[in-house]
Amino acid sequence: MSQEVRGVISRAKGAPVEVTTIVVPDPGPGEAVVRVQACGVCHTDLHYREGGISDEYPFLLGHEAAGIVEQVGEGVTDVAPGDFVVLNWRAVCGVCRACRRGRPWYCFNTHNAAQKMTLTDGTELSPALGIGAFAEKTLVHAGQCTKVDPAARPAAVGLLGCGVMAGLGAAMNTGEVTRGDSVAVIGCGGVGNAAIAGAALAGATTIVAVDVDGRKLEWAKKFGATHTVNSRETDPVEAVRELTGGVGADVVIDAVGRPETYRQAFYARDLAGTVVLVGVPTPEMTIELPLLDVFGRGGRLKSSWYGDCLPSRDFPMLTELYLQGRLDLDAFITEEITLDQVEEAFTKMHHGDVLRSVVIF
Ligand SMILES: NC(=O)c1ccc[n+]([C@@H]2O[C@H](COP(=O)([O-])OP(=O)(O)OC[C@H]3O[C@@H](n4cnc5c(N)ncnc54)[C@H](O)[C@@H]3O)[C@@H](O)[C@H]2O)c1
Ligand SMILES: [Zn+2]
Ligand SMILES: [Zn+2]
Repeated sequence: MSQEVRGVISRAKGAPVEVTTIVVPDPGPGEAVVRVQACGVCHTDLHYREGGISDEYPFLLGHEAAGIVEQVGEGVTDVAPGDFVVLNWRAVCGVCRACRRGRPWYCFNTHNAAQKMTLTDGTELSPALGIGAFAEKTLVHAGQCTKVDPAARPAAVGLLGCGVMAGLGAAMNTGEVTRGDSVAVIGCGGVGNAAIAGAALAGATTIVAVDVDGRKLEWAKKFGATHTVNSRETDPVEAVRELTGGVGADVVIDAVGRPETYRQAFYARDLAGTVVLVGVPTPEMTIELPLLDVFGRGGRLKSSWYGDCLPSRDFPMLTELYLQGRLDLDAFITEEITLDQVEEAFTKMHHGDVLRSVVIF
């Protein structure tokens, strides 16, 4: 037996999203149906709508969510009906070459539900990042459900499901920021501000926020930025060097993902420092750097997929820090909206008016 619920779909490239009825099948082996309580609006949902990720319309959007497990399929033992979970888009397989080497955060064969959710006429939906949580209920692989403390506010911990985790992890996991480090973060949207919060949690003493938008820089201070640089007015490389005793930051995180911001990150870092690319570039972008500078400056140039997180390790831990008041996830929520307001939320995101809009069910 299947269920019919309301969900937000993107039917064609660039067209406004619409709320419609979707059909959620009963969970098969290894699957779970989750009643969604909250789902953040992420830039990646907009990328899907604009055709930037694939052409497999219609998409069921939304992927930054928390909810309650309602039903589980055969063989599911890690979660049970009633569990409060944050959904993740990298359910690790445990058997690929990355998993077998003990590096499951790089898993090369992550799992999604095998069955498809559909429209009422049977048209199969492509769920965003294998989740599709702008829906009252969604079907996922059980491994995509990570149990966290149910005392937490769904709208807040749901954000760990994507952008906030990516940013926190870019600093804490990929960048390996540690106490006393100097860190610069270029681009202070949801991801960049989370990187700032992660750097602060990890003990960085100098945290420079760089953005072209003054409002974002004001927000960055709330998350722990010790200095801000508006790169529309000031050369960010010079500014970061000046703020770090003339040498550059130990870790520079590019949370925009454009050739010019990557170049800034590359040159704003100290010798033997680390560059972390967490912003996602588009296919036509290229960069040219003097190879001697790549060699001569030493250190590490890294990319961060989903903050190199391991949901089973990181979601419960970060939820605990949130409940202890040490990680202000609430501060990322600019507004709570309904399912019918996702299109408006995209417009606000596009204009930089929000850090996160979160759909509440
Ligand atoms: N690696 C991952 O796993 C992962 C996960 C989620 C999101 N992302 C990516 O991270 C990036 C940021 O996402 P977001 O949700 O924070 O987006 P956002 O739109 O909220 O924030 C982007 C910020 O960058 C600033 N900016 C734009 N151009 C700039 C420039 N040239 N110099 C300095 N600042 C500039 C904007 O003013 C804005 O504050 C996106 O590319 C997104 O796709 C990556
Ligand atoms: Zn694997
Ligand atoms: Zn996302």
